[in-house]
Parts: sequence; structure tokens; C-alpha cells
Amino acid sequence: MAAKIYTITSGKGGTGKSIFAVNLAAALAGLAKKTLLIDADLCMADIGLMLGMENSKITLHEVLADEANVADALYDGPNGLRVLPCSISLEGFKKADPSRIKDVISELTPNFEFIIIDTSTGINSATAASIEVCDEVLLVLTPDITSIADGSKMRAFAALLGKEVTGVILNRTMPVHDETYREKLMISLDLKVLEVLPEDVSIPDCIAGKSPVVTKYPYCEVAIAMNKLAALFSGIKMPEPEEGKGQKKQKNKKKRITGAKLPFSQSKK
Ligand SMILES: Nc1ncnc2c1ncn2[C@@H]1O[C@H](COP(=O)(O)OP(=O)(O)O)[C@@H](O)[C@H]1O
Ligand SMILES: [Mg+2]
Repeated sequence: MAAKIYTITSGKGGTGKSIFAVNLAAALAGLAKKTLLIDADLCMADIGLMLGMENSKITLHEVLADEANVADALYDGPNGLRVLPCSISLEGFKKADPSRIKDVISELTPNFEFIIIDTSTGINSATAASIEVCDEVLLVLTPDITSIADGSKMRAFAALLGKEVTGVILNRTMPVHDETYREKLMISLDLKVLEVLPEDVSIPDCIAGKSPVVTKYPYCEVAIAMNKLAALFSGIKMPEPEEGKGQKKQKNKKKRITGAKLPFSQSKK
């Protein structure tokens, strides 16, 4: 077995990389896939906090500082997910040597089917290593023009490392970010939007409760989208949505917020 490695990145901060990484990993684990989630945001590490592992004594920081074995830094997460968190202390960040990330990940690859790597905002050596070591690069972007512009920069950075971005996850969307908007976004970025995650109050609720949305609220729109993506990555065919309920949602999606400013014109020429 050699894990398929997905690196989650963006460019701009706060686009939802960490929350996406947690939920994609938990969704894959929920499909009985042997999955490891790695927090490679060595400075602003959030995965431990998001999964209630913030007090772990041995973490990726200690492994990268050559103070511990990686086997001792793995923890049990939801759905049988394994997690390699970082500590939340700056001391941990200071002592960690990011040049060792690739070796650590290579050591873990034979034990899993999927490895999901959460990265930090912007460009640094840990993110570069996470991109170099992966099979697929996913961009998590919000619909703001700044997030899209920074995402393009990250895509160019990945290209410098010899990696193509597989696609975009468009997060925190509002009804105004409809199909027309998404088509224009795809044309402008020349990238596929793989999944759309709406703005959802369940997300801050789940962060506060330290559990993924796919386990706490499996029927909310974000959780359904995450499970769909996990099924796609696993090659599992999902049943078509039931008639009636799905149609009603589609109808609601078409509602537009007038006066909202979009980076792409909504007018159909
Ligand atoms: N779909 C969403 N709906 C509502 N809030 C969201 C959503 N996605 C992310 N958030 C909020 O955005 C914040 C930043 O998310 P996070 O995953 O930490 O971003 P990043 O890792 O890219 O910096 C979170 O604290 C969360 O409250
Ligand atoms: Mg993050």
C-alpha cells in the first residue's frame, strides 16, 4: 500500500483549508479508508485544536526536532482517522526542522491509503515540501477576489515545484455565487471547481465542539459535499440525490443577492 497524498493549500489565510482538511480526512476515514491527517502548518497549527488534541505532548514538532519517533506522534481521531498534529506552542515551531517533513511523510506512506496534509497560509519551506511530496494539490478558495488572486499565485508556486493543481474547492459561498459565477471563475483560473461549500453556521459550531461537521452534522450541505468529494477520491459511486428535496434546494440556489459585488460580472452576454 502506498498512500495517495493530497496537499491542501490556498495563498490567502482563513479560506477554510484546515476545516476542509479535517473534514475530507474524516469523510475518507468514514468510508473505511485508512487515512492520516497531517498538520504541516508548523506555526499556526490548528488541527490539534479542531480535534481536541491540543494537549498532546509528542507531535510533529518533536518529530521534526528529532526528539521523538513519528509512531509516537500519531493519535486517534473520528471514524478511525489517524492524526499527526503539531503542538500549539511557538516553542515547538522554533525547534522543528521543516526540511525533515518529506522524510517523515515518506516513512508513513506505506501504512495508509490516503494522507491529507493541511498547510499554512502563504509560501514557506514546509508548504513547499508538502507540495513536492504530494500526488494532488487542492486549492481551498473563498469567492473574494483577493483569495482568487492569491490562489493563482499559489498555483504558480506549485508549478515551479513541478505540480499541477488538481482543482478548487470554493468555500463560504453565498447564493449569489451561482453556476454562472462558478463558470466564470473556472474560465478565469483555468481550473475545475471540484466542490462548493456554502457558508454554514455548523462550521464554527463544530470548531467550538472540536469535531468534524461530517460526524456531528452529517446531513448539512457542507457535510454532504465533503462526503461526495471523499467518495469521488475513493472511486466510490454515490447514489443520485432523491427527487423533490434536491430540486427544492436547486431552486433556492438560484436566488441572487442584488447589489452584492462580485469579482466576475453576472450578466450573461
Ligand atoms: N463553510 C464555512 N462556513 C462558515 N464558516 C466557515 C466556513 N469555512 C470556514 N469557516 C470559518 O473560517 C475560519 C477559518 O477557517 P480555517 O479552516 O481555519 O482557515 P485556514 O486554515 O485556511 O486559515 C474558521 O474559523 C471558520 O469559523
Ligand atoms: Mg489553517
